Amino acid sequence: MAGRVVYFSGEFVPEREANVSIFDCALMYGDMAFEMTRTFGGEPFKLREHLDRLYGSLRLLEIDCGLSLDEMLAQTLVTLEKNQATEVEGMDWWIMHDVSRGPLPVYGSLWPEGTKPTVTISTWPLITHMGTFATKYDTGVDIVVPAQQALPAHLVDAKAKTRSRMHYKMAELQGQRIGEGAWPVMFDPDGFMAEGPGWNIFLVKDGTIYTPEPRNILQGVSRGTVFELAEQEGIPIVEANLGRYEALQADEIFCTSTSYCIVHGRSFEGQVVGDGQRGPVVERLTEAWRQRVGVDMVSQAREYAEALPGWLEQEVEANRAAVATT
Ligand SMILES: Cc1ncc(COP(=O)(O)O)c(C=O)c1O
Repeated sequence: MAGRVVYFSGEFVPEREANVSIFDCALMYGDMAFEMTRTFGGEPFKLREHLDRLYGSLRLLEIDCGLSLDEMLAQTLVTLEKNQATEVEGMDWWIMHDVSRGPLPVYGSLWPEGTKPTVTISTWPLITHMGTFATKYDTGVDIVVPAQQALPAHLVDAKAKTRSRMHYKMAELQGQRIGEGAWPVMFDPDGFMAEGPGWNIFLVKDGTIYTPEPRNILQGVSRGTVFELAEQEGIPIVEANLGRYEALQADEIFCTSTSYCIVHGRSFEGQVVGDGQRGPVVERLTEAWRQRVGVDMVSQAREYAEALPGWLEQEVEANRAAVATT
């Protein structure tokens, strides 16, 4: 808790008091759109792009959250500012937006004043996400193909970022069964590579970057950043139908997501990719990313890893004290 607050449907409340009703559509149906953004040097990265995607998801779900995109953006900055004061300077933040349709109408009599969408904006110190991730920048990740397929867009469109994520969870569970810590990349029903449960995938062959066509995937904001950085670096990048064959021929494989930006694949389906180390294209993109955001995310994650045990101790202590006084 440590003094942080959450924007909760128009009010700012302490984190532990930001409770959603058990009758909310989010719990009943997974009927909720969301976004994950991060800061670099305290500044949100591509916040407007993330919110564009959130409002795209809301349009698909036919939810009017009651705030314009500009109002959501302004409230995000207020939430961040309120919480930044609770941490040491230099801490970066995870920013999460969650919007559900609100309580299910059949239980509406519980709210005689009327129901409305549940809108939350929360920010969390990035130390817990990145401190636990730090070693992966060195080791890379082992990518496997789970039995769970990606859903084709004509059934459930992955371009909308929603909390209906059981297929992602299944992929994760199956990935763990294949190998502890393995990262599962789902294929679509046509047999083409799609995405991981929280990341986009790229292959590098003979100096060209290949990535799945955007049909059945979330079009990651970090994926967009790879396109920008590749263009800036003069590295050709192509969207294509990719399969196991292409992945096993790749010189490099990498994954992208908002929190860690980019991490290399050490192996694919049990076979080492290149020499298993971070390859030259991943190196160049990582360096270009650092320059772009003004933060060395790799050394930052290592610093967070060192500081994490102490941070957790303080956090738990502060929460114990807060609970004791309530
Ligand atoms: C299914 C899925 N694909 C890809 C991504 C990567 O998107 P971004 O780069 O916008 O974080 C995410 C992020 O959470 C995701 O959930």
